[in-house]
Amino acid sequence: MTVGEYKPGLEGIPAAQSSISYVDGQKGILEYRGIRIEELAQQSTFLETAYLLIWGILPTREELKQFEDDIRYHRRIKYRIRDMMKCFPETGHPMDALQASAAALGLFYSRRALANPNYIREAVVRLLAKIPTMVAAFQLMRKGNDPVRPRDDLDYAANFLYMLHEREPDPLAAHIFDVCLTLHAEHTINASTFSARVTASTLTDPYAVVASAVGTLAGPLHGGANEEVITMLEEIGSVENVRPWLDTSLERKTKIMGFGHRVYKVKDPRATCLQGLAEQLFEKFGHDKYYDIAIELEKAVEEKLGHKGIYPNVDFYSGLVYRKMGIPEDLFTPVFAIARVAGWLAHWKEQLDENRIYRPTQIYKGEHGNPYIAIEQR
Ligand code: SDX
Repeated sequence: MTVGEYKPGLEGIPAAQSSISYVDGQKGILEYRGIRIEELAQQSTFLETAYLLIWGILPTREELKQFEDDIRYHRRIKYRIRDMMKCFPETGHPMDALQASAAALGLFYSRRALANPNYIREAVVRLLAKIPTMVAAFQLMRKGNDPVRPRDDLDYAANFLYMLHEREPDPLAAHIFDVCLTLHAEHTINASTFSARVTASTLTDPYAVVASAVGTLAGPLHGGANEEVITMLEEIGSVENVRPWLDTSLERKTKIMGFGHRVYKVKDPRATCLQGLAEQLFEKFGHDKYYDIAIELEKAVEEKLGHKGIYPNVDFYSGLVYRKMGIPEDLFTPVFAIARVAGWLAHWKEQLDENRIYRPTQIYKGEHGNPYIAIEQR
């Protein structure tokens, strides 16, 4: 077996063959199963998009209704999982709570019958249905409240906002939240999806696959950046301070959160979509001064780093959208995870078809032939 050239972070190294999504980083193109993300954001819904990603085809009206009904039916979580979550410390990060509770689903549902097509559909439905409920439940429990039951009369996005805020969701906010889920659903072989594929390749259960991916997404260089962006904008504090702050940050060689991407060397098309959604929310619910700071920062970063292909990524504007919807900052990444479960499940299913465990090689840089030295002589 010939050993290929090592590239840190596997940059430019294909780690999978996939037909789920496609990114052209130079042209700023993202397609899910060949359909441009802008079209799906405008015309589809998150659940229809999830179906497309996972089964590779847009559902008929009947297929979509059955999928939506099945997910609606499975939204509740077992009282044992709720009781387990009640023991989580209120100060714990919601991504850690989500990772633990996603893995716990495996205790109840992971009959390892991967050959059973119903098992695959059941796991897809249960994870898409229960992840939002667990995110909302942890939020209410850490405030000392009992989690509210999902409402069958609300669609997927509206129900999440209802469970989170315990009030009737605004229709525009619910629609925009659904579009955000579509925008975040899938993005080729990013770090958390790679984790999902590696975990899936051992034929473990899909709940462990999702728990593995949640842990990866939590990092500030990946899904955790959306939360960091708000902290950064608050630290900048004013439009006037944008450039002085940026100069200091660049002198310190700190990464500007929400900017840069391993693949996109132009503005992430999702950032453009999210900017438009933010402006719709500001029009209805009032402006956010941090948007003005964000716009100024985008201009300043382009001046300084545009030549390096560093532009806003998906995380730069998403936090401003979620804030305006009243979603707490430390729930921004769990919200990202709610959406990305669709992509992770699509890759889980595709990896099962690949049927080959991931086992790369390494370039050994250590020593050989060292003697064992007794502890008395060390
Ligand atoms: C997501 O992969 C995906 O698809 C991820 C994602 C998805 O949908 O799954 O799109 C979601 O994770 C978006 C990224 C969110 N993360 C952030 O916003 C954190 C800030 N971004 C950076 O950490 C960085 O841009 C990464 C991690 C996103 C990409 O890093 P790379 O590809 O490893 O780039 P690099 O670190 O090799 O940097 C190349 C150069 C360096 O300068 P030089 O040493 O060559 O002079 O660009 C600079 C870096 O210093 N650079 C930045 C920068 N990002 C890269 N400089 C300042 N600020 C930044 N944000």
